[in-house]
Amino acid sequence: MIRNAQALIVAVAVQAALAGAAMAQTPTTAPAAPAPAAAPAAKAEPKGDLGAARDKVSMCIGCHGIPGYKWAFPEKYTVPKIAGQSEKYIYNALQAYKKGDRTHQSMRAIAASLSDQDMLDLAAFWASMKK
Ligand code: HEC
Repeated sequence: MIRNAQALIVAVAVQAALAGAAMAQTPTTAPAAPAPAAAPAAKAEPKGDLGAARDKVSMCIGCHGIPGYKWAFPEKYTVPKIAGQSEKYIYNALQAYKKGDRTHQSMRAIAASLSDQDMLDLAAFWASMKK
């Protein structure tokens, strides 16, 4: 049990070492801040953060195409094209999936895992993609 924990720690330690090697002995699963947190200041005027979105789009790429890589686009897979779509539209659609106003199962599952900020970031990202 301790050995397994140690193995995990080794993996975590790389990141933890940056924050302080002493912490590596503590087998907490979540390091302090794994992802660059979106600026709380964005709350005032909700704004998508393209940089923050980069960590999140991997969730979408498989179905909605590969941003920036001119992939065969989703129509092929009967998935709507969201690249270049209006930011507001994407945001609203994600909210609708989360709320259940839209009922597509996969999208509901995905949207359920997204925070408002995630949605803003993703909407900004996809809207910025010009096919
Ligand atoms: C498992 C495949 C899959 C993944 C992964 C996925 N989507 Fe979707 N998405 C779909 C499908 C299929 C639809 C069409 C659903 C429908 O008919 O309502 C859709 C619809 C959408 C729509 C509405 C488009 C429109 O024209 O109304 C948006 C916006 C969207 N997805 C965004 C995202 C974002 C952002 C992510 C990543 C966080 C993501 N999707 C991940 C399959 C996926």
